[in-house]
Amino acid sequence: MSRTAETEPLLRNANSDEEREEDDAAVTAAAAATRKRKVLLAIAAVLGVLLIALGVSILVVELLKRGKTHGDDGKHHRTGIHWKPCQSGDKKFLCGTLSVPLDHAIPDGERIDIGMKKLPVAQGSKRLGSMLIDPGGPGGSGIELVEGAGEGISMIIGGTYDIIGFDPRGVGLSQPIRCFEDANFHRAFDSTFPTSVETIVAREQLRGLLCAKNAGKILPYMSTAAVARDMKMIMLAEGDEELNYWGYSYGSILGQTFVNMFPELVGRVIIDGVVNPYAWAEGWGFWLNPKTKQLDWLTHAAEGVAGFASLCEEAGAKRCALATSGNVAKRIQAISTKLALEPIPAVDAEVPGVVDDATLRHLLFRMIYQPAKWPVLAEALDQADRRNATLLQDLYASPPEDRCPLYDQPLLEPLLGISCSDGPVPPPFNKGELKHDIAKVNEQYPYGGDFSALARIGCSFWPGVAKERFSGPWNATTKNPVLILSNAFDPVTPLESARIAHASLAGSRLVVKTNAYGHCSPSMPSKCTNKIIRAYFADGTVPEHDVTNCTSDASPFAAPAHSSLFARGMSDVEEPDMTIHDALTDIWQKVMMKA
Ligand SMILES: *[C@@H]1O[C@H](CO)[C@@H](O)[C@H](O)[C@H]1NC(C)=O
Ligand SMILES: *[C@@H]1O[C@H](CO)[C@@H](O)[C@H](O)[C@H]1NC(C)=O
Ligand SMILES: *[C@@H]1O[C@H](CO)[C@@H](O)[C@H](O)[C@H]1NC(C)=O
Repeated sequence: MSRTAETEPLLRNANSDEEREEDDAAVTAAAAATRKRKVLLAIAAVLGVLLIALGVSILVVELLKRGKTHGDDGKHHRTGIHWKPCQSGDKKFLCGTLSVPLDHAIPDGERIDIGMKKLPVAQGSKRLGSMLIDPGGPGGSGIELVEGAGEGISMIIGGTYDIIGFDPRGVGLSQPIRCFEDANFHRAFDSTFPTSVETIVAREQLRGLLCAKNAGKILPYMSTAAVARDMKMIMLAEGDEELNYWGYSYGSILGQTFVNMFPELVGRVIIDGVVNPYAWAEGWGFWLNPKTKQLDWLTHAAEGVAGFASLCEEAGAKRCALATSGNVAKRIQAISTKLALEPIPAVDAEVPGVVDDATLRHLLFRMIYQPAKWPVLAEALDQADRRNATLLQDLYASPPEDRCPLYDQPLLEPLLGISCSDGPVPPPFNKGELKHDIAKVNEQYPYGGDFSALARIGCSFWPGVAKERFSGPWNATTKNPVLILSNAFDPVTPLESARIAHASLAGSRLVVKTNAYGHCSPSMPSKCTNKIIRAYFADGTVPEHDVTNCTSDASPFAAPAHSSLFARGMSDVEEPDMTIHDALTDIWQKVMMKA
């Protein structure tokens, strides 16, 4: 019994009937065009008699040609996206959908709608084209990203591109993957946190069975290759001849997939916070790199926590609450040990809960993505040290939404659907070996290691096998150079991965922010990178050589004058914009909270 068809309309906005009508219109476009051609022919025949007599038969030929061209275009798909005002009433944006084939190998077959939102170039400004963005995840919503970060991104790149965020297939407004019959069941499932490997295995088995039962047709069509083909269709529908794109985190895999599948369509493409494409496509996204047998993606995660401690110590007690005495790293360790022995009931927190060492470890993992939050994290740790865990729990847990009816936003299922689709079908499950690997990973990678295990087990039970999977080669010669951005100490997309992508893509340029922690370039403000990005989007200029000396302009614990860089949105390329960082981390946090 599949309730997919019933639950879906709940998610679609109230415009869905209208949208469906448009789809119907698209389906019948061929018929309409044929009718129109017949009418034109009839008119032409009549006019022809008259006009030939007048000696202007060229016009007839012209009319016939136009009628024919239109009919051909309408036959397979709509060529444009019908943009209209958004339901939210926010006039800054336009909303639209594009109908794409469920299976790109069968262009005449079943279709799905890709939902998207656009921030158009301001009226009267120069427009160079459109630019697509992706927040990563995988499974993050591009629509949410353009809502939160569209203006900041537009500002940095010079205001000359329409910024378009789309929900990748299986996500948000694009045929979201629904494994649970309703939001209550999903919430109940998410509220259990198994700790033993055996129970994680059984729980992922249950998830897989539910997805097989309820999510049905989208499962084999969620690979990144399919999304890259969707991007090509969006780009062409918007009238662009090349793809302009800024992809963060997993968005770098989407970017690398696109530029290697369609190197002749590469315009201005930035990959920012880069994932190693070889490890991604040969393993299972978040699990051990099949070559090195390490969790290479977490190479610098522990360094992120160390960086938090050392920058705090440098800033001193006035700016960092944890820096009251001696070694901050040791103090964090001591707090963790104390929380393990004596967890704290946080009764006054917004979501009351017990704070223990596992809570702290998970929170630290999330917080190393976003240095902007380090001062408040230090405050929370200092208070927890004095047995008040209110702030710590507030950072850790936000209240569940209580919309009625409950709104189901699947996040971990799209993440699994996309990352499992991109890797090979996992070999048969060997529990002993897996338990051994998981124990090793948890010990070696205290921050993020447990997430890896979950993702790996999830892929073993994932019921979809991608019909099309792109697994390289990753070294195409692109029409225009790709710009690659990396923070030196990115906790989850290490600089080493950016170097691998850079070595593969001829002509690409690598820009490294030397002193930067946090995930992706917006996590620490830098005028230096902003200037490079703006020049690139203005006319395709890339630096003559790789740039390895960009720095962030402020420490997260900077003096008040500088900390304003972190605190408020900025308005010029000279003043980096933190709204992008905030929008990105909001999206990533949501995914991580589910894990
Ligand atoms: C605990 O910390 C919270 C948040 O900082 C604060 O509002 C509250 O007054 C503190 N409680 C006690 C008992 O000190
Ligand atoms: C790209 O990589 C493939 C396989 O990894 C290799 O065979 C090919 O020669 C490379 N092409 C270029 C242009 O380097
Ligand atoms: C980085 O190095 C280049 C080349 O050595 C130099 O021209 C530039 O001024 C440096 N930039 C910064 C921000 O230090």
